[in-house]
Amino acid sequence: MTETVNVKNIGLRGVTVADTKVSFIDGSKGVLAYRGYLIEDLARNATFPEVAFLLLHGGLPNGEQLDDFERQLQEAGELPAYLYESLTHYPVDAGPMDVLQAGVPLLAMADPELRDDTREANVRKAVRLVARIPMLVAAWHRIRQGLEPLPVDTSLSHAANFLWQLQGAKPSAEMAHILDTCLVLHADHTFNASTFSCRQVVSTRAHIYAGVTAGLGALSGSLHGGANALVMKMLLSLSEEEDIDAWVKEQLEQGERIMGMGHAVYKTMDPRAKFLKEMARDLGKATSQEKLVELSIQIEQAALAEFEKRGKTEIKPNVDFYSASVYHLMGIPTDLMTPIFAISRIAGWVAHIIEEKTGEAQVKPALYRPKAEYVGQYCGLMGCSFEPIEKRE
Ligand code: COA
Repeated sequence: MTETVNVKNIGLRGVTVADTKVSFIDGSKGVLAYRGYLIEDLARNATFPEVAFLLLHGGLPNGEQLDDFERQLQEAGELPAYLYESLTHYPVDAGPMDVLQAGVPLLAMADPELRDDTREANVRKAVRLVARIPMLVAAWHRIRQGLEPLPVDTSLSHAANFLWQLQGAKPSAEMAHILDTCLVLHADHTFNASTFSCRQVVSTRAHIYAGVTAGLGALSGSLHGGANALVMKMLLSLSEEEDIDAWVKEQLEQGERIMGMGHAVYKTMDPRAKFLKEMARDLGKATSQEKLVELSIQIEQAALAEFEKRGKTEIKPNVDFYSASVYHLMGIPTDLMTPIFAISRIAGWVAHIIEEKTGEAQVKPALYRPKAEYVGQYCGLMGCSFEPIEKRE
């Protein structure tokens, strides 16, 4: 076939593929809302369990419902023994996102309700996933250092317990609050690549764990959740003497992307990035590591100036740009930054998976099956002549 095919909607940008009641973005105005509540209000006033409840159940919990939900998270149980055992056999340099992607199907195998596809059972599985993904990240981090995984401390909040299981020390109230706010900020983002992956997989009626495993794979990529770790690597690779303006210019001239900048939907500053920038500033001061935050700001300014010269004024910092500094200043290793994104985004994934399975936001659940323009070899309707192998050149 020789004619040029005009492939429309590359990357499905701007294509509506479903209805959703979970979250909303207005990319031109920088608005993000979960179930109608603005991200600014949630980040200032709500905890991550409150937001996870909101995403999963559609409304904010009252005090009793929140207590009950937090108890459910704490009582979701330890990881199965065979999962801990399997972690001890992985190479110590295995990527934590790969470990998560390997671990979630192992969680599925231990779930007594795996094949129960009712809404109620899926909500219970969703709560178990929200509780256990952080346990898995923390357990892997301990095991790869030759340390024993730590049990859940039910006296701690969800965020504080994760830091305790990860670091082996109870975090300060400030650190737990910072992590909790980060979890609120990352919890959902409509049809981003990982959420779409989750929804697309469960549209085949695959179980919730299969959907989450697909989401983890999508999140790991550098254009999605993997960007935060690359932002950190960029910051750590730049020496104090570096001429940042020249460095940014050179990167762009070489066709490289500045990680943590640009967004498929936001054409103005990502509302989450505004929060994270302030958090990074405060944390920089509190930990006397202002230089790292100053460096990020210098890169942001240099990049904005270069993008402006190139007529790309819509490229601004996204959620990953300042979250990298925040996590680093909290003592989080760079390769755990994307898993922390997953610890938060699991709340959105499971809400979307349940919405997809139940068809709650649209007429009925439907299998995703887009089409593609075929642009390969074409020899007419009779097909190409099949040559026996001995006659092929
Ligand atoms: N650095 C340099 N150039 C960038 C850029 C960045 N961070 N983000 C976008 N661009 C440029 C592209 O090179 C492209 O230029 P071209 O038209 O000259 O080829 C143009 O802007 C459009 O980019 P494209 O990837 O086609 O579309 P998009 O706006 O939908 O991209 C991202 C969204 C997220 C893929 C993109 O901004 C990016 O790669 N960012 C860095 C990775 C990142 O931070 N990801 C996390 C997202 S939350």
